[in-house]
Amino acid sequence: MTQQYVIDEMISAKSIAARIEVLASEIKTAFADTDKLVVVGLLRGSFVFIADLVRELDLNVEVDFLEASSYGDSTESSREVRILKDLRGEIGGRDVLVVEDIVDTGFTLSHVTQLLATREPKRLETIALLDKPSRRETNIRATWTGFEIPDEFVVGYGIDYAQRNRNLPYIGKVRFT
Ligand code: PRP
Repeated sequence: MTQQYVIDEMISAKSIAARIEVLASEIKTAFADTDKLVVVGLLRGSFVFIADLVRELDLNVEVDFLEASSYGDSTESSREVRILKDLRGEIGGRDVLVVEDIVDTGFTLSHVTQLLATREPKRLETIALLDKPSRRETNIRATWTGFEIPDEFVVGYGIDYAQRNRNLPYIGKVRFT
């Protein structure tokens, strides 16, 4: 059974939207010469972020998804990243942007970028809405980061606690009571 908890707002929906506008403008500039950008969302956590991000990207975009999991319903990383669902499309010779909700230990993003690099994309960049640098156990860093946050247990805007709270429009901090 999950412990009792309350959620305190940490990053408002308005702040997230404002930050995404800035990030999208940087991405548009970085990929200005692309004929098509393949935006890859890492399921399940990134589904809200990718939806908002692509709607701010005034580029020719293809959306694809990859499901990787290292946590299951646990709060501790298993450090073993499993690919549960692979991309539908080919990325060889393409411009690719991997979209992650949060980089914690970094095992997920590191494993996924290594895997995708073997498919020889033209360019492979990454974006994470949240980054917890104090938790890092790998030396990966996303090309673009929305917000650096302290080591708090966060939920909302796609991120779950035992599969709940993904639908909150803001990032909240879990406080156990
Ligand atoms: C979470 C989160 C990131 C990853 C970050 O995914 O969505 O993908 O963990 O942690 P890491 O940097 O320590 O690897 P999870 O495995 O819980 O799956 P989910 O996205 O389906 O919730």
